[in-house]
Amino acid sequence: MKTDRSRELYERSKKSLAGGVSSNVRLHEQPVPLFFERGQGSHLYDVDGNEYIDYVLGQGPDIFGHSPNFIIDAVADGMTRGLTFAGQHELEIELSEAVQRIVPSADLVRYGSSGTEVVQAALRVARAYTGRSKFIKFEGQYHGWTDSVLYSTAPGLEAAGSSAAPTAVPMSEGMAASSADDIVVLPWNDADALRGALERHQGDIAAVITEPIMCNTNCIVPRTGYLEEMRRLCDEHGIVLIFDEVITGFRLALGGAQELLGVTPDLSTFAKAMAGGFPISMLAGRRDMMSLIGDGSVMHGGTVNSNVMSISAALAALTKLQEDDGAAIRSLYSTGLALMEGLRDLGSKHELDFLIQGPGPVFSVTFTDVPEICDYRSHKSNADEETYERFCRGMRDRGVRLIGRGVWFVSTVHTESDIDRTLAAADETLSSL
Ligand SMILES: Cc1ncc(COP(=O)(O)O)c(C=O)c1O
Repeated sequence: MKTDRSRELYERSKKSLAGGVSSNVRLHEQPVPLFFERGQGSHLYDVDGNEYIDYVLGQGPDIFGHSPNFIIDAVADGMTRGLTFAGQHELEIELSEAVQRIVPSADLVRYGSSGTEVVQAALRVARAYTGRSKFIKFEGQYHGWTDSVLYSTAPGLEAAGSSAAPTAVPMSEGMAASSADDIVVLPWNDADALRGALERHQGDIAAVITEPIMCNTNCIVPRTGYLEEMRRLCDEHGIVLIFDEVITGFRLALGGAQELLGVTPDLSTFAKAMAGGFPISMLAGRRDMMSLIGDGSVMHGGTVNSNVMSISAALAALTKLQEDDGAAIRSLYSTGLALMEGLRDLGSKHELDFLIQGPGPVFSVTFTDVPEICDYRSHKSNADEETYERFCRGMRDRGVRLIGRGVWFVSTVHTESDIDRTLAAADETLSSL
């Protein structure tokens, strides 16, 4: 695979951008962070003339593939009226009314630009509502890069301490040491651990924040009854339950994982797939909680919140997702499940220890000899990350772009031919490993 031009641009980029990239997630792409010329549908084209079937999809937002015309047209149409008003416009009401109909927990909503910031808003609302300051988060889950939540997203097992009472491991230098005072880290999918922590921290916990499906580690689905028990315990202890649906929202079902799994949180956060690639995020939640923002007692701001481009894109995306009784989301499932099935068959053919798990519209691929991974520690102790990296490189050399940590996103525009080509590339790559 030719990468001369990407390498050249990367060298130039490093002179003006810290590390040559705009997000640390992009720092370690091998053999070099790639530079792209354009994206069309399910395909990306880099500056060296390489074409890729893309399963990165902007890390999730490009649910309709790259450059979807209906989104571009909606945004262009919106922009004829203005870009950023720092004032209200009717499209934001239309969007909010659509969300109220679609998302079970959405009595009221507010918009932002990134998932990270609405997670902060959710925690602030939860603290104001309960008058408590600590919150529970789970090992292996990611809720953005701020000091308050950037703990134990991918800790080493030694640093992580005992599974009964995990250490909150900061994932960056320079974080405020005091933020650790407010965080209680637990293993996910373990109702006993949650029950125990709630006993130990009786009366101190404002919120439990969780990915409803743990897409940031192995796309782990909750054990039967786990989220229901979490919901029950939060009610019992007067704790705000926050679902972080930044990945799952508008991807697993119109109303997100909360609709799919039938468990309604108090607050939920959305971003990524919501506007088909345009930057938007949303905090949705119960009227009595969101009213704390509404009456001004909880501060939520943002200069570009509800800008015309992002709201127009989100409205177009939601309209598309609702057409034909949810045909777009059904197509995500059929593509995702076909890929998962095909990859499993290849695992058997090559006699590989290969675990494919997840709901379908997003799923994960892991080299491991265990039949199931159900929490972060079982992932960390059993996943052969080095082999996956080699697999990724082999796939990229064969024209398939994957996320290095095993997550695959699919779009509504991946075709049967994309699936066939992807599986043929996987077949060759697995032979070569
Ligand atoms: C579950 C989850 N929450 C929050 C975030 C942060 O979102 P953003 O990158 O838009 O700030 C991410 C990002 O990947 C995420 O996966």
